[in-house]
Formats: sequence, C-alpha cells, structure tokens
Amino acid sequence: MASVLVASNRGPVSYAVAEDGSLDARRGGGGLVSGLSAVSSEDSVWVCAALGEGDRQAVRRGISEPGVRMLDIDPDVHADAYNGIANSVLWFVHHMLYQTPVEPVFDAEFRRRWTSYETYNRAFAEALAAEADPGAQVVVQDYHLTLVPGMLREARPDLRIGHFSHTPWAPPEYFRMLPDDIAEQVLRGMLGADRLGFLTRRWADAFAACCTALVGGTGGTELGVHGLGADADFLRERSRRPDVEDRLAALREQIGGGPDRKTIIRVDRTELSKNIVRGLLAYRALLEDHPEWRGRVVHVAFAYPSRQDLAVYRDYTAEVSRVAEEINTAFGTDDWTPVLLHVKDDFARSLAAYRLADVALVNPIRDGMNLVAKEVPVVSDEGCALVLSREAGAYEELGEDAITVNPYDITGTARALHEALTMPDGERAERSKRLAASATALPPQRWFLEQLEALREVR
Ligand code: F6P
Repeated sequence: MASVLVASNRGPVSYAVAEDGSLDARRGGGGLVSGLSAVSSEDSVWVCAALGEGDRQAVRRGISEPGVRMLDIDPDVHADAYNGIANSVLWFVHHMLYQTPVEPVFDAEFRRRWTSYETYNRAFAEALAAEADPGAQVVVQDYHLTLVPGMLREARPDLRIGHFSHTPWAPPEYFRMLPDDIAEQVLRGMLGADRLGFLTRRWADAFAACCTALVGGTGGTELGVHGLGADADFLRERSRRPDVEDRLAALREQIGGGPDRKTIIRVDRTELSKNIVRGLLAYRALLEDHPEWRGRVVHVAFAYPSRQDLAVYRDYTAEVSRVAEEINTAFGTDDWTPVLLHVKDDFARSLAAYRLADVALVNPIRDGMNLVAKEVPVVSDEGCALVLSREAGAYEELGEDAITVNPYDITGTARALHEALTMPDGERAERSKRLAASATALPPQRWFLEQLEALREVR
C-alpha cells in the first residue's frame, strides 16, 4: 500500500533475459524517474506495464524492484492498446500527423483495438485501486492511460487523482476527428481526475477548448501547467565523466577539419513528430544557398530508434538515413562528410555532442516540451545557438533567446541555421546562459512535488 502512486505504460526499470536464463534489470532515466525520487520509495508505488519478454518473466518469477509494480497484461491486448491506439491514433491526433486524404480510418478493426485499450486501462485502474492507501495521491501519466482517472474515481472516490500529459493536446477541430463517442470517452475519462497537468499553457487551453466543444466544459476538474525543466545538477556532473570525454574526442575526430569547422547537432528519438527529414533538407538548402559553408560545417544527427513495431516508424527511420546519404553523396569530399548520422542510442555520446555544438537544431512539427532544447544550453562548453521550432512546448520558455522557425519552412530553417552559425561568439554565449537559466527553472523533483502539492490543495 502507498500514499503516492504513479502510473505509466513504461516503468522505471526493464528486464532482459540473459543467455543463462537469468534476468538483468536496467533502470531508465528521464524526468519522471528523478521527479519521483523526491518521494521515499517506502511511501510510493510506480505501476507500469510489462513490455517485453524479460519484464513478463520477472512478473511470473516474482522479481521486482522496491516500489515498482509491473502488470503482466495479455501481450495481444497490450499491443492493441500501445501500438494500435496510443501510438497510432492518440499520438497522431495530438501531434496532428495524419495525411487526412487517406487516414485515419475508424472502422471495425479500430473498434476492436479500442476494446483492448479499455481493458488495458482497466488493468491499471484495478491495480491502483488495490495499492492505494485511503486518501492517497495518484498521478497517472500520458495518452496511454486517459481512461484510468474516470475508472479509478468510480472504484475509489476517496483518492486524490491527477493526470499529467507529456504530449501536446490537439485543438478541437483536430481532436474531433475521433469518432464522437470515443472523443467523449477520452475527455470524460480524463475529467475523472481532480487535476490535470500539462507542460504548457497552450496544451492546457487546447484541452479546455475540446471540453467546451464536446462535453460542455471541464466541470470540477482543475487544470494546471508544470513546465518540466532540465536537471542541471545531474547533467553538469554526468557530462564531465570520462566516458563523455572519450566520446567527445571520438566525435571531434569524425567531424575533422580542425577547430574552425562548425557543428550543427540534433538529438532525437526517431518519432514522426521530430521532423528530422525536413531538418536534413534545410541543411542541404543551407549548403546550396551558402556554398561558403561547404567543408566548414558538419551536421551531427543522432536519430535513435523508437517504436519500431510500427511500419510507419520504420519507414521514417529509413527515409532519414536515405536523405542523409543523399546529402553526403552530393556534397561530401575526401576530407569532409557533411552529415554524421548515428542511430544507436548512446547517452554519453549525446552529452558529448551537446558539449561541442555550435548550433542545436530542434525543429519538431509539434512537441509536448522537447527536453533536448533545454539540456543543450545547460551542458554546452562554450555556448550554443538554438534553432527552435515555434511548435515545441519549450518555445514558450525559450523562444526569446532562440532563433525560432516554422518547422515546415525549409528555406526559413536554412536561413535560421545560417544566422545561428554566424552569431558572434559573445552573443551566443550570453543567449546560451539565459537559455540555461530558463531551461532549469523547474527541475524534475520540484516539478513533481509541485504537482503533489497542488493535488493536495484541490477542493
Ligand atoms: O515524450 C512523450 C512521451 O509520451 C513520454 O511521456 C513517454 O515517456 C514517451 O513519450 C513514450 O515513449 P515510448 O513509446 O517509447 O514508451
């Protein structure tokens, strides 16, 4: 039993089956992990889904970490809910990713998957109801679990229920693409919470507008904004460790060209919303429009795999590699590779790239926050110019000191890259300092505690 509960699809730990059949536990990072560390693990429980075979084995063998409860939901139900609904429908709606002449198609197959989404949400609600002390605080995370607050409210009216969205929220004209009954079910599920948290005012307003348009308002549910910031202490310490120094030396060697060669970096999970392909096209336009940069700049692009069960993600990943190769073939010379693309996840190497970057390109189509935009200025050795999409949540806090772009405008993004590359050193360092200050205004632990405090005070 616990007085603080968190629920999310992906938990803070995952298990891999080793060759000898034993299980290796790997702890993950991220804002929620460090946020929850502000609360004693004796008082808290994190309810999450078993995601792979290792996780399922752990549940069946009774292996767990203190304060973590993994749910062994039927794999087909989980796949329908996670891949079929959360990632293929709700993610697409909130990031406005559909090619509307041909999709979405809400047919019988969609309805079948939706039933799995309900079953999966119910498994979480039941586990939370069983684990929560009387009057406990529960914070449910994200679009995977929109129905949980309503289900939990019915089972345990004594609880303080919060929900936090790490994604954008769609405006009503887009959200109502969902079948009417489903759209209403999502909103009513969320409104089962006492309090709903969003990363920016823009997403909170979009949610409120959907409620006004579809269910007559938000009723007694409070909406709050908590702009998750970068964890400065952790990042500054972690980015000076020997493994990062090694990666820094290796990257410098790959970039080549001596100290005058500049770098434009980007670090993303390869999600469709990250706009990596248009970023590459903008870089190509820069090399075409400003031939003086040929041989004098390298685009270091880290595109780490994400959601590879979905064909559309695999195709997108392949397109990123194809365009990068095309640029290298068109412009590369014996001693200059214009694009250095890495697709294998390596956190130490990401930090090394943050340290040496002259320019960081963060150009998502739409993004809940985008922590890379916040982390780079904190870690940067000599200051980094930030080219930032106005559609990223981080724009609300960082827009003033970034060079902002419309993510669809290739010509405009190429111009912004040129401006960033030619920014005088002093100005770049000054802007970077101000960006770092804004980026760290709400560190993860305070971000989490603030939510608990607000939830306690809801009337
Ligand atoms: O970045 C938005 C987000 O929804 C996070 O809240 C969440 O951790 C992640 O995406 C989910 O990603 P995945 O599908 O890899 O678990």
